[in-house]
Amino acid sequence: MKKGLSVETAKPIFTNIEKERAMKDVVLKKFAEVFGDGEGAKVFFAPGRVNMIGEHTDYNGGHVFPAALTIGTYGVARKRSDNKLRFYSMNFDKLGIIESSLTDLLPCKEAGWTNYPKGVMWAFAERGMKMDSGIDLLLNGNIPNGSGLSSSASVEVLTGFILRDFFGFDVTNQDLALIGQFSENNFNGVNCGIMDQFAIAMGKKDHAIFLDTADLSYTYAPIKLENAKIVITSSNKKRGLGDSKYNERRSECETALTELQKVIDIKALGELTEEQFEANKSAIKDEVRMRRAKHAVYENQRTIKAVEALQANDVALFGQLMNASHVSLRDDYEVTGIELDTLVEEAWKIEGVIGSRMTGAGFGGCTVSIVKDEAIDSFIEKVGEAYKKKIGYGADFYVVELGDGPRVL
Ligand code: GLA
Repeated sequence: MKKGLSVETAKPIFTNIEKERAMKDVVLKKFAEVFGDGEGAKVFFAPGRVNMIGEHTDYNGGHVFPAALTIGTYGVARKRSDNKLRFYSMNFDKLGIIESSLTDLLPCKEAGWTNYPKGVMWAFAERGMKMDSGIDLLLNGNIPNGSGLSSSASVEVLTGFILRDFFGFDVTNQDLALIGQFSENNFNGVNCGIMDQFAIAMGKKDHAIFLDTADLSYTYAPIKLENAKIVITSSNKKRGLGDSKYNERRSECETALTELQKVIDIKALGELTEEQFEANKSAIKDEVRMRRAKHAVYENQRTIKAVEALQANDVALFGQLMNASHVSLRDDYEVTGIELDTLVEEAWKIEGVIGSRMTGAGFGGCTVSIVKDEAIDSFIEKVGEAYKKKIGYGADFYVVELGDGPRVL
């Protein structure tokens, strides 16, 4: 995909059956080329996700409001007659075939991206679901690399979906989400919450998922944006240190929770209203930690209010809450950085922008904005120009559509 200001990049991508078919042909052809022949290979797809609001609340027992996208990961897989695992990613062509085996399901640096599918195989085995043969697996993702639209969770859910299909494991889509998260936490060392894998495994076209991470209860909310679209802007800043900072935020919240538990009977920060937080916050003995916990509590309440606003067709209020979410992530949670702040603050200046905020873990990655149709071109042009001027490289813009969860193609 092209970088820079081009409105071309803002066209919906892979939204219709023809494009999906074309992609299917591409991956099947490549599979045959890489693995000798395409005999018996099957094609699968799992989406990426965008979170509309409810950031860094999922590991605090709060609410999130993510949606699956129509972009994601295409996978071609075939069972083998031995224990071998052979992996190939069209996104990392230079790496060629990466080989492993079912007897070697251990994380290692050299395994690179294959630690994600291997982690899922390991997680299934941990639950007593052992594969009785290896597989050949080729992937091709059209989620912009390192964009924070959950390419890793997409690969995890895709792998789980393939294993269920091939080996008859008795698991629901919700289980696929939990297994994906388990593997990410325990095999790949990122202490992520459940949001990404859940949004991907449970995705529904034109809907976002209002999920209570305290008990995994959820409802689907239709996203009907009359005369407006969801625009994702990639900062093109790769995350790098993000994962360690992510774990740091998580433990700051855990410590704040332990301090609060001395004065109020709660299991998670997500149980608190803003008033309860204000009345008890002095139990948190550190100013930084207090701000982290404040974000978790207020963001959870904002998410509940935002979904109510959407249900009442008040998209303007939804947008204001998105903006407030960004401010809180910038000032209290401190996970934005100059790139995401520039994108969002420039977006706010443009008439026709209903709301704009960072989405995902932060520290780079993407913003999500709701932009009126007539303002999309000027949004791309103005935000793009201002960003390039300040940051020195371009941003990419995607007008996205919300799609279904994983499937066989
Ligand atoms: C990452 C994690 C999610 C969630 C978000 C922040 O995407 O994988 O579990 O915590 O960050 O909301």
